[in-house]
Amino acid sequence: MCGIIGYIGKKAAAPTIYGGLLRLEYRGYDSAGIAVSDGRKVRQVKLAGRVNLLEGRLSALCGNAGIGHTRWATHGAPDDVNAHPHRAGKITIVHNGIIENYAELKREALALGETFLSETDSEVIACLINRYYRGKILPALKEACGRLRGSYAILAICEGEDGIAVAKNKSPVVIGCGADGTYVSSDIPALAGLCGEVCIAEDGDYAFLTAEGFEIYDGALNRVSRPMQKNRALPEDVDKGGYPHFMLKEIYRSPRAAEDTVRAFGGVKQKFCKYAEGTGRVILAGCGTAYNSCLAARRYFESFARVPCEVETAGEYRYKNPVITPSTLVIAVSQSGETADTVEAAALARGRGAKVIAVTNAPFSALTRIAGLTVPVAAGFEVCVAATKSYTGQLAALYLMAKALGGGDPSPLEEAPSKIKAALDDMDICAVADMCVHSRGVYFLGRDLDYATALEASLKLKEVSYIQCEGYAAGELKHGALALIDGEKTAVTIISDPALAGKCENAVEQVISRGGKVAVITTLAQVASAFGGRAEVVLLPQCDKYVAPLVTAAAVQVLAYRCAVLLGRNPDMPRNLAKSVTVE
Ligand code: F6R
Repeated sequence: MCGIIGYIGKKAAAPTIYGGLLRLEYRGYDSAGIAVSDGRKVRQVKLAGRVNLLEGRLSALCGNAGIGHTRWATHGAPDDVNAHPHRAGKITIVHNGIIENYAELKREALALGETFLSETDSEVIACLINRYYRGKILPALKEACGRLRGSYAILAICEGEDGIAVAKNKSPVVIGCGADGTYVSSDIPALAGLCGEVCIAEDGDYAFLTAEGFEIYDGALNRVSRPMQKNRALPEDVDKGGYPHFMLKEIYRSPRAAEDTVRAFGGVKQKFCKYAEGTGRVILAGCGTAYNSCLAARRYFESFARVPCEVETAGEYRYKNPVITPSTLVIAVSQSGETADTVEAAALARGRGAKVIAVTNAPFSALTRIAGLTVPVAAGFEVCVAATKSYTGQLAALYLMAKALGGGDPSPLEEAPSKIKAALDDMDICAVADMCVHSRGVYFLGRDLDYATALEASLKLKEVSYIQCEGYAAGELKHGALALIDGEKTAVTIISDPALAGKCENAVEQVISRGGKVAVITTLAQVASAFGGRAEVVLLPQCDKYVAPLVTAAAVQVLAYRCAVLLGRNPDMPRNLAKSVTVE
């Protein structure tokens, strides 16, 4: 959610920062901008639209120190003026986060005769630093931050002063040294191949970067040390690897995500069992796709461990007055580990005495610092805004946790990677995609675990194709939504549980008899033959019903991808969205 990057060193800063912005673009693509200092003057270019629009303007920026920003607009339209960097006097800044008291600060500044160009909340930061500047940017940044309420990762440079000043509160900041200079970024992948090790800054930290290295400071500007972590990001993680889009590449990495997550769980299983001992109730919380993985996992915890389990969207949970007892285990699920709602929900639960486990693809994220234990999702970096392989990894981790809690045999999950791979290699979902893109609405139906997949299918399809769609429990169709079915609507029913197949088939029949277009995605050969010739049928490899969500997920992800491509959308960068929602 907004990407920021800074560089100071021996190289020309503009192309270095531009390359970093291209890698951070999944965090927002409403506008982009770069400011570069040549030691005396700071020059900047900024434009509404994608990062690549800056390419032709880089020659205007000479110098070896600079900062860049790719924006997901929160305050003010996504236009050139509201694009970052923002400038006040000698100070230029980029910001990721939200300044909640910006209106009050802006009123104060206007009363002092200070002026503003943009409608953003961020411009007040530049204005405050400029007001407090007495020849050194770091103390001025600290003083400015003392006035801010909200979340921020700020990079600031000053005309005539060497170095980049950094402040962090609730928005991620990573810093690293490379062979030719010092880097700071919102996320590790932007530093892939540039820094062998990175330092993850903590909330309340300040930092100052020079060409020779960096120092981290606490809130009183005393030097502090933070551990360096190996940078796991490789240049190939941020490369499409021959695929036309990251989304497709990442869907095809799902078998590997399942396999690696199983392996990683081996390393934490004992700790998990000890931490979760005595659990009497499980609460699963997440947002978006992570929430949908929680819906499937509820069945895992109830069936394998026989513990009562509730699922909450993290954004709702954080504003409840939740009932937490000493035996409550809260499991917070998040690909990025930075989603503000999920991080705050976990903090609330921890503060009230719950045991909290983070299930995340980001080992050093904010969520892991709050949780008592982290269970890794080993899906590798996910660049596409739409989550795919991380969903598969989340399902695998949650399956294993539920099995471990219940003391059951987790071996059925071992077939997941090969089943997902077989599904991806063999299925032909193009006819269903064609049906969906020629419909005025799509309904995904399923029961029990397939209902969770139906919701995820609907989220994925709407997100990347903008087709109007809904996920429904198949049994609910006749209680209202059936009224919407006509020849211009498609119902896609997911059927993977032999015990529920007959009931789901009834829902399909109801749609057929109302003249709706019908597709069936199933792991069951008997269901496929029941609808052969009457519906578009996609037959996936037969598998254990609890493993099926990992396999059917791959099918609905490919379906969403195909629809996006047929409609000429860019599935990697859906409109209005960004990955890592670090604001409320
Ligand atoms: C959907 C999607 C989002 C995220 C949600 C939570 O494809 O990507 O719905 O799942 O924003 O993000 P994380 O998992 O990073 O907390």
